[in-house]
Amino acid sequence: MRRRFRRRLIGWYRRNARDLPWRHTRDPYRILVSEMMLQQTQVDRVLPKYEEWIRTFPSLKTLAAARPAEVARAWRPLGYNVRPRRLHAIAREVMHRYDGELPSDEPTLRSFKGIGAYTAGAIQSFAFGRRAPIVDTNVARVLFRVFVGQGDRTTTPLKKHLWSLSAALLPRRHVFDFNQALMDLGAMVCVARRPRCSVCPMSPICQAYPFNPDLEHGSG
Ligand code: ADE
Repeated sequence: MRRRFRRRLIGWYRRNARDLPWRHTRDPYRILVSEMMLQQTQVDRVLPKYEEWIRTFPSLKTLAAARPAEVARAWRPLGYNVRPRRLHAIAREVMHRYDGELPSDEPTLRSFKGIGAYTAGAIQSFAFGRRAPIVDTNVARVLFRVFVGQGDRTTTPLKKHLWSLSAALLPRRHVFDFNQALMDLGAMVCVARRPRCSVCPMSPICQAYPFNPDLEHGSG
């Protein structure tokens, strides 16, 4: 089942991957910026702001040296919130304590405010090629439907289960593509309402197929 899932996912991704700018880089800083922007904002809205941000602050060093007001202004179109301050604080701390290199290990990444379990996994797998699992709303929905099928997705044991599934499924290589593919399947096919099961590569192995919305309880 795991191997079938992996094969189907990667095959689908080769044909359907979205071409997103943060998929053409392995620069930890750029990955960090994109993932923090994507924490609460849709891909379509992030795209132009991400490009603009990278032009304004092309490196961790330039961001660390910027004034807080400048950073807040650059973020403003993405909404008033705490993310730009956190991102700025991370850049400064990395300059001062880590010689300008974003750490790659889970505990240090998690020690920064603004980097939770999901973002730490994203940075490890996308920037450093580590076999780190990710579970965000989209991924949780995909794994839940394919491997669990129905019921309540929001309980703590179930969330833990989805994290261990995400880890168990990780291939030895191509972790970057595998994790990006999981997100794409959730964003493009296995969507919350009206999933597109007829074009989904997982339909033949999916516990929730044929999909019945009345059997599902959970956010997103
Ligand atoms: N949402 C969060 N991270 C993402 C990524 N790397 N690509 C697309 N959507 C995302």
